[in-house]
Amino acid sequence: MIRHQPVLAGRIAELLKECGTGAFVDCTLGDGGHSEMLLSVLDENCQVIGLDRDTEALAIARERLSGDRRFLSFHTPFSALDQIPETNGAMGFLFDFGVSSRQLDENHRGFTIRPGVQLDLRMDPNDPRDLRSILVDCDPDELGNQLAQLADVPRSRIVCRHLAKVAAERDLTSDDLETALLSAFPRGMRDRPREMARLSMALRMVVNNELDEIRTAVPAAFGRLVPGGRLAVLTYHSVEDRLAKNLLRGLIGDDHDAPRDVFGNRPAMQGSWVVRREDPSKEEVASNPRARSAQLRVIEKRRGAALGGILGAMLLVSLVGAVMVGCVWRQTRHVELEKGMEKAASKEKALLDSVDQLEARIRAERQPAVVGRRALALGYKRPERQFRIAEPDTTEVRP
Ligand SMILES: C[S@@+](CC[C@H](N)C(=O)[O-])C[C@H]1O[C@@H](n2cnc3c(N)ncnc32)[C@H](O)[C@@H]1O
Repeated sequence: MIRHQPVLAGRIAELLKECGTGAFVDCTLGDGGHSEMLLSVLDENCQVIGLDRDTEALAIARERLSGDRRFLSFHTPFSALDQIPETNGAMGFLFDFGVSSRQLDENHRGFTIRPGVQLDLRMDPNDPRDLRSILVDCDPDELGNQLAQLADVPRSRIVCRHLAKVAAERDLTSDDLETALLSAFPRGMRDRPREMARLSMALRMVVNNELDEIRTAVPAAFGRLVPGGRLAVLTYHSVEDRLAKNLLRGLIGDDHDAPRDVFGNRPAMQGSWVVRREDPSKEEVASNPRARSAQLRVIEKRRGAALGGILGAMLLVSLVGAVMVGCVWRQTRHVELEKGMEKAASKEKALLDSVDQLEARIRAERQPAVVGRRALALGYKRPERQFRIAEPDTTEVRP
């Protein structure tokens, strides 16, 4: 059995160790090479949590590392890492995409093209959908477009139509890949092994939903990192590398196309690059051919992001509190003012009423009949002659 030789293992272990003590998650445990290197540099209080969807890889890694009490492993696709509580608050995450040399060498479920091998292409034998079921259910033209995008598979729609026809009748073997390509290139291909390899890889990526797995898992891992924690990604293929690079840029806020605020400012950086891109050395490539196309990228979650977040939240809460207190105070003042104005209005009304009453009494006293009666009582015989008594006042007299 060929053991997978981990790429840039020492460098990655060193970069993750710098974060400090805590849990480190190897999301693509494989044969455990990177995890073993990590355990060799981390201190006694650290933990390494390995995930893999391939049960055979897990069995190998467990046999290799289970003697170390700091090692823990789970059988799961990495897109489900948020269902593993142990991964929360981790110091570091590592993704080493693709498949291992052992999986290729042992032709795990038809990963490599050897004559007469049944094509299954699932990393996890428990996954419900293998290549055949996907081909039976698919629209061949749509699948063809997907293969072209994933690995530049030429004439991919014709190839997929051929494969779908075979899948409807029987299980597929690696020979069917060749006949499918020949149906698209009846006069033969310029580089047959290369086209076969690209077709096989693109089909494997579809069966295992590899790009969606990355799209889900990388942001989830960043979300579970502690501030100051690091996320390392190793890619081997241009499509997954472009995807990973853009995801990392978006996560740390190094995204030039990100929407800006009204003042034209970009959102605050959530992290920084530790390694924008690093390739393995010539020596490593010479001793490990798989390292040839590898690219390492590492980001760090902003330190103080949590503190900043807490302070920001506190500031926001205080602001909202102050605004609410202000509103309540204004409302109370308003009610008090209204009550005062009501009181003043009723006092004014009472005052006006008593003035009216006084005027009415004065007017009543001046009525000619009243004046005449008083004069008679005082001894005047003919008061209407002696006094100039005005015509009776017809103004209504209020009681
Ligand atoms: C390149 S190998 C990793 C090798 C490993 N770093 C080592 O040192 O041995 C990639 C591993 O990731 C696993 N893998 C790929 N996609 C996965 C996914 N979505 N979820 C979990 N494991 C995955 C594969 O089964 C394979 O074992």
